[in-house]
Amino acid sequence: MIITGKYPNLRLRRSRKFAWSRRLVQENNLSVNDLILPIFLTEGKNKKIPIRSMPGVFRYSVNNLGFIVDKAIKRKIPMIALFPYTNQKLKDSFGSESLNENNLVCQAIKYVKNKYKNKIGIMCDVALDPYTTHGHDGLLKKNEIVNDETIEILVKQALLQAKMGCDVIAPSDMMDGRIKKIRQKLDKENLQDVQILSYAVKFASNFYGPFRDAVGSKGALKGDKKTYQMDFRNFHESLREVSTDIKEGADMIIVKPGMPYLDIIRSIKDKFKIPVIAYQVSGEYSLIKNGINKNIIDEKSIIESLYSFKRAGANAIITYFADSINLDLLD
Ligand code: PBG
Repeated sequence: MIITGKYPNLRLRRSRKFAWSRRLVQENNLSVNDLILPIFLTEGKNKKIPIRSMPGVFRYSVNNLGFIVDKAIKRKIPMIALFPYTNQKLKDSFGSESLNENNLVCQAIKYVKNKYKNKIGIMCDVALDPYTTHGHDGLLKKNEIVNDETIEILVKQALLQAKMGCDVIAPSDMMDGRIKKIRQKLDKENLQDVQILSYAVKFASNFYGPFRDAVGSKGALKGDKKTYQMDFRNFHESLREVSTDIKEGADMIIVKPGMPYLDIIRSIKDKFKIPVIAYQVSGEYSLIKNGINKNIIDEKSIIESLYSFKRAGANAIITYFADSINLDLLD
């Protein structure tokens, strides 16, 4: 029970009067340690291509990654997440390019590991959507995304990324049972120390549009992802997803998107005590960014949005604002 006073002896405004006092009683803290920076990759050389639907975000060719990774390391961002824009010519219905050891993600992992060693962590998605002509995260057979056959490819994709030096494997495909199979394979191949960050709670969301544009899967996507990503009307189901992934060997879990799902972050944190990462997805980014660019909202709204995740119990946030946000904006 909370014991509290009563007006007029109690005046909650007293502690809000000065900035020093507000700082003294603040309950949450946001620092650069909380931020994970997604980076989009493109083929070619010396490329830095703006993404139309995500103002201020670019795709980098591997030889240009230094620009953005230097910046991330200087800021002390703990981890980057790599996402490829795959040339349409390399896509097929099986997502074969995901298993090419010279694909963009593999090249980028090698480049970053070679240049920066363990100064920054690398996380990679495991899913087929950047590589398939139909834009789905799994194999499409007779108009269905087949679960177990997809896992066989995902296991190979995860193993390849881990062998290249990826530190954190992040399955974002939402197939049932994939964490277990990936963990088993990594352990068998002496990669016990590679972490698994499961996109355990991933909703079939309308906020992913700009990302699909960024990785070139938007036009390609046939139908929707509702047979594997979660129904946004559900809450309890997210707890079941997390509990199975923990049992299967997930080290950390993601809730995605972010701001519409703060209730779920809080609940998972309270019930499972596992590191929870919020993903402030592309649609959330672009809404806020466009609002700032059009002078509708202030830049401080970014900080406010990031604090909402901390308050809900998130340990860290994957956010496209990670490399640009000025954390001193808040006094
Ligand atoms: C791919 C994937 C998606 C995102 C991250 N990994 C899109 C999707 O599931 O369609 C979305 C990220 C964002 O919108 O920022 N499986």
